[in-house]
Amino acid sequence: SILTVDGSQGRRIPDTFFGVFFEEINHAGAGGLWAELVRNRGFEAGGTNVPSNIQPWSIIGDESSILVSTDPTSCFERNKIALRMEILCYGPKSCPPGGVGISNPGYWGMNIEKGQKYRVVFYVRAFGPIDLQVSLVGSDNGAKLASNNVRAFGLYVSTWKRMETILEAKDTSHNASLQITTSLRGVVWLDQVSAMPLDTYKGHGFRKDLFQMVASLKPKFFRFPGGCYVQGNYLRNAFRWKDTVGPWEERPGHFGDVWDYWTDDGFGYFEGLQLAEDLGALPVWVFNSGISLNDEVNTTAIAPFVQEALDGIEFARGPPTSKWGSLRALMGHIAPFDLRFVAIGNEDCGKPNYQGNYLKFHAAIKRAYPDIQIISNCDGSDKPIDQPADFYDFHVYTTSKDMFSKSTKFDNASRSGPKAFVSEYAVWQKDAGDGSLLAAVAEAAFLIGLERNSDLVHMVSYAPLFVNANNRKWTPDAIVFDSHQHYGTPSYWVQRIFTESSGATFLNSTLQTSSNSIIASAIEYTNSVNKKSYIRIKVVNFGSDTENFRFSISGLKSNVKQSGSTKMVLTSSHVMDENSFSQPNKIVPQLTSIENASKDMNVVLQPYSVTSFDLLK
Ligand code: AHR
Repeated sequence: SILTVDGSQGRRIPDTFFGVFFEEINHAGAGGLWAELVRNRGFEAGGTNVPSNIQPWSIIGDESSILVSTDPTSCFERNKIALRMEILCYGPKSCPPGGVGISNPGYWGMNIEKGQKYRVVFYVRAFGPIDLQVSLVGSDNGAKLASNNVRAFGLYVSTWKRMETILEAKDTSHNASLQITTSLRGVVWLDQVSAMPLDTYKGHGFRKDLFQMVASLKPKFFRFPGGCYVQGNYLRNAFRWKDTVGPWEERPGHFGDVWDYWTDDGFGYFEGLQLAEDLGALPVWVFNSGISLNDEVNTTAIAPFVQEALDGIEFARGPPTSKWGSLRALMGHIAPFDLRFVAIGNEDCGKPNYQGNYLKFHAAIKRAYPDIQIISNCDGSDKPIDQPADFYDFHVYTTSKDMFSKSTKFDNASRSGPKAFVSEYAVWQKDAGDGSLLAAVAEAAFLIGLERNSDLVHMVSYAPLFVNANNRKWTPDAIVFDSHQHYGTPSYWVQRIFTESSGATFLNSTLQTSSNSIIASAIEYTNSVNKKSYIRIKVVNFGSDTENFRFSISGLKSNVKQSGSTKMVLTSSHVMDENSFSQPNKIVPQLTSIENASKDMNVVLQPYSVTSFDLLK
C-alpha cells in the first residue's frame, strides 16, 4: 500500500473537531469525576417518601441502642427528608464501643489517602446537646483513619445548624467509610452530609486523576450531561437543570431511571459548564426536548420547556444582572460561560412531537441568541433533514467490521445542509468486550474517515467516556475507574492519537492499495509545547496479516528532518486483548524515535494496529 501525500496543500480541520461526550452513566459523575465521597448525602434516594431509601447508609448499633428513621423535617425546601436518630444508650457502659450512629461507604468504598484532608459538612438538629464523632474508617480492620469530635450544647442545635470539620487522614484505605457516631442519649436529626477531599482540580470538585485523563484528550468541546440521561425513561425523571444549580445542600437530587441510580446532583449544570471551561473546551449543552423514552409533551404545551432552555442559556451566558446569570455569579462564576452550542434533545428524532417541539425551541433560541449553534437529533447523513439546524447529530454503535466500513460514511453526504456532529460512536458487544484492541482499531479507521470528511463533520466524540468498574451500566467505555485507580481502554488510546487533529491542516493524499484493511491519512500540525511543525501520517491495519506500507510526501520545500521524528504504534498480540487494573498499560501507544526519517519511507504494519508517524518538518 502506498500513501502519496501532497505536503503543499490542504484544508483546515475545524478547531472544534475533537471533543468528549460526558454523560451521567456508569457513575461517571456521581461516584466518579465528581469527588464527593458520600452517596445519598441527603437521605433522599427514595424521593419524598417516608420512610425514604437511605441506602447505602447503614446503622451502627442495634435496636436496643439506636432507632433510625426518616421524616420530612429538613430545613431544605426542595429536599425535605432528614434522618432521625434516637439514641437509647448512654455512655461507654451502655453504648457499644465507639458509640452508635450511621456509616456511609460512598461509592463502593471511599478512597482516603494518608496526609490528605477532607472537609466534612453536615446539618444537624437535636433535643439537647450533641457530641458526635465524625470519622473516616478503613475497611480492613475498622481502624480510624481520621476522627474529630463535633460538640454543641444547650439550645444551640434546637434549630438546624451547619457543622463543618476537616479530617486529616493518618493512613490510606481505598475502601473506607464515613461514620458519625455518639454515645450521648437523645434525639438527633442529620441532613446533607458531605465529605469532599480538599485536593480537587482547582478546588472545583473534580477528581484530579480522572480530570487529567480527560484533559489529556485535549477536547475542544464538552457535550453533556447526556445521552438518554437527559431524556429519562419518563419525563418525571429527566435531567432538569434548575434542580441541579445553587447551593449543593438545596438541590433535590433525582433518580436517573435510564441508568437506574440516584444522583445527589452535586455534579449539575453549573459543574458541567465549569468542567468544560477547566478543560479548555466549549460546552455543548444537551437539554430535554419535552420528550423522554416513554412519554412526551405535546407541542401545544411545550412553552415551559422552551422557557427552561432559554433560562438555561441565560444562566450560562447572561450578565450577572440577569435573573439566571445572577445565580451563576452567586455560585462564583461572574463572567459568562462560553456557551455556543446547544442540542435540542437526544435521539428524539422520529418521536411524534419532536419536529413540532424542535421548531419551537429553535425559533425561540435563535430569536434570543442568534449566534447559538443548534444541533438537531435528526440524522442528515443519508438525506437532508427538514428542519433548520446548524448541525445534525449522528450516533453509531456497531460491529468492528461495520465501523471500519463506516470510514466512508460521510464521503457522499450532502455538503449543502447543516454540518455533522458525530457525538457518539463506538464498537460494542461481542467485538468490543469491555474495550478490545479490535474495537479500537476499527474506531481509528472510522476517525480517519471523519477527518477526511471534516469539511462536513465538524465535531466528533466517543461514548461513553467513563465507567465505574463497580457499576457497568454500559460497556465498553473509554476510561475505567474505581475509588482510587483508573485506566484507558484501547479506544481511549486511539483518541489520544487523534488529539492533534483539531485545527490541523488536512493534507491531500491518495492511498493506492490492494488490501481492503488499510486506511491512512496525513495532517500537518504544530506541537503546542515545542511549537514545531509536524506531518502526522496515521495508518490503520484492520487485518490479521502484517502489511508493507510506504508513504511518499511531495511538495515540501525540503525533506523532513532526519532526527526528531517519532512513531507510535497501538497493537497487541491478541486482537481481543483489553487493559485492566492489573495491566493498565497492556495496550497503549508505544513511542519510538525514527532513525533517518524521510519524506519517503517503507514501513511494516503490525496486524490489527494503528500506527502514527510524526515527521518533523
Ligand atoms: O452512550 C450511551 C447511550 O447511547 C446514550 O445515552 C444514548 O444517547 C445512546 O443511545
